[in-house]
This record gives sequence, structure tokens and C-alpha cells, in this order.
Amino acid sequence: MSTPADTDDTPPLRWSLTENAPLQALNTFHVRASAAQLLELHDPALLPEVLALPQVADGPLLVLGSGSNVLIAADLPGTVLVFGNRDIRILEHRADHAVVRAGAGVSWHGLVMWSLQNGLSGLENLALIPGTAGAAPIQNIGAYGAQVGEFIQAVEAWDCQEESWVRLDNAQCAFAYRDSVFKQQADRYLITAIELKLPLLHDLRMDYAGIREELQAQGVELPVAADVANAVIAIRRRKLPDPDVLGNAGSFFKNPVLPLEQVEVLQQRFPALPVFPAEHDGLRKVSAAWMIEHRGWKGYRDGDAGVAASHALVLVNHGTATGAQLLSLARRISASVLDTFGVPIEPEPRLLGAQW
Ligand code: FAD
Ligand code: EPU
Repeated sequence: MSTPADTDDTPPLRWSLTENAPLQALNTFHVRASAAQLLELHDPALLPEVLALPQVADGPLLVLGSGSNVLIAADLPGTVLVFGNRDIRILEHRADHAVVRAGAGVSWHGLVMWSLQNGLSGLENLALIPGTAGAAPIQNIGAYGAQVGEFIQAVEAWDCQEESWVRLDNAQCAFAYRDSVFKQQADRYLITAIELKLPLLHDLRMDYAGIREELQAQGVELPVAADVANAVIAIRRRKLPDPDVLGNAGSFFKNPVLPLEQVEVLQQRFPALPVFPAEHDGLRKVSAAWMIEHRGWKGYRDGDAGVAASHALVLVNHGTATGAQLLSLARRISASVLDTFGVPIEPEPRLLGAQW
């Protein structure tokens, strides 16, 4: 391992570079793979400097947070960069809101709980989503009726194309369902921090299926934001396998967004197909989980690659499945859904070392 300096009076470690680094603990599928180099950077101000190191500049570069939305199908060449800056600061405190800045390496769920403990709301429906603050804007994480893009004021990043620091405002991030400029232009922006504008009080969102019932079951009559977070946490724990126990990356497929006319035809053939609103009037989101379950995949297992018994959208690694085996299962599932419903479903996690 090389480090910036090796004397006794060195300041705290600001970066480290490890060759041939194992990635099994750096992806929540827990597949075995390695990175030619792992660069851990605790002080993002040093980015231009470390990116210019010959051993980094000469190969491909990929940022990983917690690896909870990737499927690694091969050993990774070049450098895997992990941000270790985990500071949370309040930049602005007003009568009705605060602006909070979180370093890329902050745990997302930790940030949600910190915001609630500090009297801020907005993020409660996004509790217990794994991963880092720096990755949250990439696919505009969303759950239980909220998306992070609603609260992001700005994203700070190193623009690898322009070789300069940038601060993208909300509109420049181009947030949409599981999408953003960062996903559209993969690897262009290295996100070092996010700024969130969080209200002190706002209308709680409890209409997503299960939240009101859970609050009632918990005996909560006049819920506050923290109660909604607790309800979301309880529902998520029931539905989604814990990646520490059973490797997975959450939903493996996105819910397809289709023209209303196509959805109406599908509903005539499959009246039970759950349909949800989409970002535009003429579009609807349909449930990929339902289509996959309808094709009989829920709980399926082939060796150590399988589909969760508790949720048809979640692919799982029962132990030693490789990325290639999980990908092969995903392709079979997708082909069967296309065959029955005529609807292509696309992976949500980023595939590393393979193409869809
Ligand atoms: P990684 O998986 O490490 O990376 C994901 C992508 O972001 C990669 O392309 C990577 O290169 C890029 N990236 C990461 N950090 C940076 C950075 N600092 N700068 C630039 N690019 C970066 N997602 C939801 O939206 N809603 C959910 O409800 C949800 N539930 C989940 C439940 C489980 C059990 C699991 C395992 C996953 C779930 N996910 C969900 C997916 C995942 O948690 C999110 O996508 C999360 O934001 C990924 O964070 P990460 O730090 O693990 O990113
Ligand atoms: N359903 C089934 N079978 C199942 C599971 C669900 O038929 O095994 C049907 C149910 O009818 C249910 C509907 O699918 O009403 C929707 O299920 P759920 O509420 O679990 O939501 P989802 O559409 O499957 C999405 C996100 C999740 C997010 C939840 C809650 C996507 C791709 N996934 O799942 O995000 O947590 O809503 O908001 O949009 C992730 O992105 O990794 C993720 C977990």
C-alpha cells in the first residue's frame, strides 16, 4: 500500500492506494472480484493531485460508494475510487428550512436519521436505503413516495471532462425516475458532496401502500416525520432481504414506464397488473415485480443465484454466485417477461465488466 508520506509526524491519512484489492466487501451482492487498484480518498480537495498520479492517470477510473447498486461481473482494471469524507454540516438555518451539506462518504441512512434528530424533515420516506450520500443523486434514489431530487439544492463534483470543479444546481442534475445527468453521463462527474434543502415542517407523505397501516399497527395516532421513517423501516425490513445476510442490490429491474395506451391493453389481458402514475400524463409505471412473480420466478434458485422469496424484483446471492451467473439469471427473467407481456425490463444496478 502506498500513502502520501511515511514519517512519524504525518498528519491523518488523506489517501491510500492498495493494489489488487478484493471487492467482495465493497458490493452488497458480495460477489468475489478484485480491483487492480483501490484508492481511498479522505480529502476530496486532493482529487486533482491524486488523479494526476501516473498509476491512476494511465487507466480507467470508477467511483464506488457502498456497492449497493452494482453487479460486478469481472475483475476491474484501473482504479476504484472510494470517498472517505464523512462530514455533515448545516450551511444555513432559516425559520422554515435548513441547508445541509454532506460529504460523499456519509452513510445515506445515517444522514436521514441525523436530519430527523436535528428537527429537519423531508427524508423520512427514504430511510434505510443503503449506500452513500455521494451516490444518492446518481439514480435519484426514491422510495415510498419521495425522491432525493426533490431535496437536492446542489451537487459538488469534479468534472473529469472539463478537468474542473463544478457545482450543479438542481435543474442541471436533470433528475427523473431512477435517472439523472450523472447516470446519463456515467463517470464524467466525481461527486464529492451534496447540499440538501430540508424543511423544518412539511406535509407527511403517508399514501404509499402500507405506511398508514404500519403507523396504525405501531399505535401512532399523530405521526411526526420520525414516525414515518420508523414505519418505512419496518416495512422495508419485512420486504427486502438484508444484504449483510443475503447478498442483493435491492430492485434488480426498473419498473418500466410505458405509454398509457399500451398499459390499457395490458390491463385488459392482466387486470391485476399494478399500475402507478409516472412523471407525465400520457405515461404509466407498471410493476416489474408483479410480471416477474406472474412468470413464477419468485423464490427461484439456480445454484447460489436466485430471486428473493419475499420480493420478486430482488435477485439474491445465496453464497458463491458469480456476477456472470446472476446476470445470466437476470437475462432469463427479462426474456420471459418480454415473451409474456411484450415489455422489456432493464436492470437498475450498474453492470461492471459486462453489458446488458
Ligand atoms: P454504488 O453502488 O457504490 O454505486 C452506484 C453507482 O453510482 C455506480 O455507477 C457508481 O460509479 C456511482 N457512484 C457512487 N458514488 C459516486 C460518487 N461519489 N460520484 C460519482 N459516482 C458515484 N435504491 C433506491 O433508489 N430506492 C430504494 O428503495 C433502494 N433500496 C435498496 C435496498 C437494498 C437492500 C439495496 C441493497 C439497494 C437498494 N437501493 C435502492 C439501491 C442503492 O441503495 C442506491 O442506488 C444507492 O444510492 C447506491 O449507493 P452506493 O453508495 O452503494 O453506490
Ligand atoms: N409485487 C408483486 N410481487 C412481489 C413484490 C411486489 O407482485 O414480489 C407488486 C405488489 O402488488 C406491489 C407492487 O408490486 O403493490 C409494488 O411493490 P413495492 O411497493 O415493493 O415496490 P416496487 O415497485 O417493487 C419500488 C422501488 C424500490 C422502492 C419501493 C418502495 C423500483 C425499481 N423499485 O419497488 O426501490 O423501495 O418501490 O417505494 O422502482 C431499489 O430501487 O433498489 C428499490 C428497492
